[in-house]
Amino acid sequence: MKRFETYSSEETRTLGKDLAKTLSPGAILALVGDLGCGKTAFVKGIVDAFGDGEEVTSPTFTLVNEYDGTTPIYHFDVYRLEHPSVEECDWMDDYFFSDGICLIEWADNIREVLPDNTLRITFSKNPEKGEDYREITVC
Ligand SMILES: Nc1ncnc2c1ncn2[C@@H]1O[C@H](COP(=O)(O)OP(=O)(O)OP(=O)(O)O)[C@@H](O)[C@H]1O
Ligand SMILES: [Mg+2]
Repeated sequence: MKRFETYSSEETRTLGKDLAKTLSPGAILALVGDLGCGKTAFVKGIVDAFGDGEEVTSPTFTLVNEYDGTTPIYHFDVYRLEHPSVEECDWMDDYFFSDGICLIEWADNIREVLPDNTLRITFSKNPEKGEDYREITVC
């Protein structure tokens, strides 16, 4: 497991951009952490690395947004899918088994359908270390 600490959303974004260099096409990242912990900030960094400069917005209603760049990025936010059946998630396989990179906010909501090679990134706050502190782990 790797562990990082950031003290601003910009730092979290930069961390995403740096980690992007270690990702190959087909990578799947489960982004796990409470509301406002920095998952989307991290996605912005990955899109900085691979995307075409498009602005990242949360796919809360569309469930997935695509960013075309050197490697396609599929940004999921499955917050609204609380207890989906496996059938309801069938359409996701086209993305999971593609040559793009899948970034999935609230991935624990769809834990059962995530491929085995999914990388888990956790985001957490620690009030003792200040409002802008985030601990980010990769495993
Ligand atoms: N170290 C930090 N890293 C990331 N964001 C930070 C940090 N410090 C403060 N913030 C603030 O926390 C918020 C993080 O928002 P962001 O949308 O990235 O969270 P999220 O985990 O995607 O939330 P949601 O579950 O609602 O999608 C922003 O308002 C950002 O400015
Ligand atoms: Mg978000």
